[in-house]
Amino acid sequence: MKVVKNICCIGAGYVGGPTMAVIALKNPHIKINVVDINPERIAAWNTDDLPIYEPGLLEVVKLARGKNLFYNTDIDSAIKEADMVFMSVNTPTKTYGVGKGRAADLKYIELCARQIARVALSDKIVVEKSTLPVRTAESIKAILAESSNGVKFQVLSNPEFLAEGTAINDLLNPDRVLIGGDQTSEGLDAIESLTSIYASWVPREKIIQTKLWSSELSKLTANAFLAQRISSINSLSALCEVTGADVDEVAFAIGSDTRIGSKFLKASVGFGGSCFQKDILNLVYLCEFFGLPEVAAYWDQVIIMNDYQKRRFANNIIQTLFNTISGKKIALLGWAFKKDTNDTRESPAIYVTDHLLTDMANVWVYDPKVPAKKMYDDLDYLETRESDKNRELLKVVADPYEACKNAHAIAVITEWDEFKDYDWQKIYDNMLKPAFIFDGRNILNQNKLERIGFKFYGIGKSFNN
Ligand SMILES: NC(=O)c1ccc[n+]([C@@H]2O[C@H](COP(=O)([O-])OP(=O)(O)OC[C@H]3O[C@@H](n4cnc5c(N)ncnc54)[C@H](O)[C@@H]3O)[C@@H](O)[C@H]2O)c1
Repeated sequence: MKVVKNICCIGAGYVGGPTMAVIALKNPHIKINVVDINPERIAAWNTDDLPIYEPGLLEVVKLARGKNLFYNTDIDSAIKEADMVFMSVNTPTKTYGVGKGRAADLKYIELCARQIARVALSDKIVVEKSTLPVRTAESIKAILAESSNGVKFQVLSNPEFLAEGTAINDLLNPDRVLIGGDQTSEGLDAIESLTSIYASWVPREKIIQTKLWSSELSKLTANAFLAQRISSINSLSALCEVTGADVDEVAFAIGSDTRIGSKFLKASVGFGGSCFQKDILNLVYLCEFFGLPEVAAYWDQVIIMNDYQKRRFANNIIQTLFNTISGKKIALLGWAFKKDTNDTRESPAIYVTDHLLTDMANVWVYDPKVPAKKMYDDLDYLETRESDKNRELLKVVADPYEACKNAHAIAVITEWDEFKDYDWQKIYDNMLKPAFIFDGRNILNQNKLERIGFKFYGIGKSFNN
């Protein structure tokens, strides 16, 4: 087994940055260069103002940075030095050409593979850390095989299962680590090299070794199953609202069955994040590509239900506010796609805001971690946006009480803990009446808010108004 002494990680994002920090912390004998084409991102990794917000991340980075962990932009040198190269670049949904709107855009991965093939002067293990469609390793191997330097490569798949907001804990205590590789002696040897790095802190029985294709497909499948649970409970939230059942009670009742389990059964305004939608669309595309239309349609429904839920939430606000929100002030609490992260990719907030702006509402937003520029950028990138003309109606503020002052309605989009502890009496006193509140995460105390006087709307709740 080759003992790895030097790692290069290409891509210093939400996955590459934290993952390498933990590997460096647990393997002080390995030098790790995390490299990126984005110089601002790298510069931020070298300060205490990291480019991503993640609880506990700064502490881990500070323990290893400058010792065996380095963030820099010299990609060629980092590849040359390394025994093992992780590819941790973004794989967004394609926005052009064949597979537009469904397939994963693999151009960044391909660029990495070509760069590795071009500059490598010694044998290397190349690790797919990005989430990739099944059989991508085939293309990567084909590109690496064209290296003119007589270098040999082994390609492994090692998908990342961390969740943003709990990334450090997930990395330190993973449910499992998955490593796929060729079942040849060289492939098995490479799997062992990577296994020994994780074994510095992960019990061996939690490190699962598989064929390459099983590992690649398992990541897409894991995200599809998780998102499917959310869409399933969200679909029932609509039924709860018209029948008088309470979706949280239903979720608790069914989740107590150990065959079902309680996680990922929280009804909400819809799931967001950079992964779920993109990975399911990718799965759908793969199924179509391999001639399995029924399987594709099955998984597509998870996305259709999520879009329905976001639209339903925004429409409910408009209908409840007497079918017109033009000129009305609506306070949005939260913009991040979930709590404890500043990541806003695919956040329901973007879609809800677009909807409200289209109907000419004055939308005032407060989020504890997301800067205003990111919010405006998110709306600009929204392909389906309708609210272009009304962008000036969006206002971002640093104080939640200011956001809610004189508002007709409040919409909770992210489940930030601080929202639960606000002085809701004070907020109510300063709002226009009737004071509506739409809890898109079911985190607020409905009874308490109704006693104060709010007209309260939760997801999957019966309405007492
Ligand atoms: N974010 C998550 O929670 C999560 C979890 C598991 C898996 N993943 C997967 O991990 C991968 C990375 O996700 P992320 O959230 O870290 O993305 P990200 O956009 O935060 O980071 C990717 C980084 O790669 C850099 N990059 C792109 N091309 C490059 C190149 N040729 N050379 C050097 N750097 C390059 C970009 O500048 C960017 O900083 C994706 O495939 C994603 O699906 C993400």
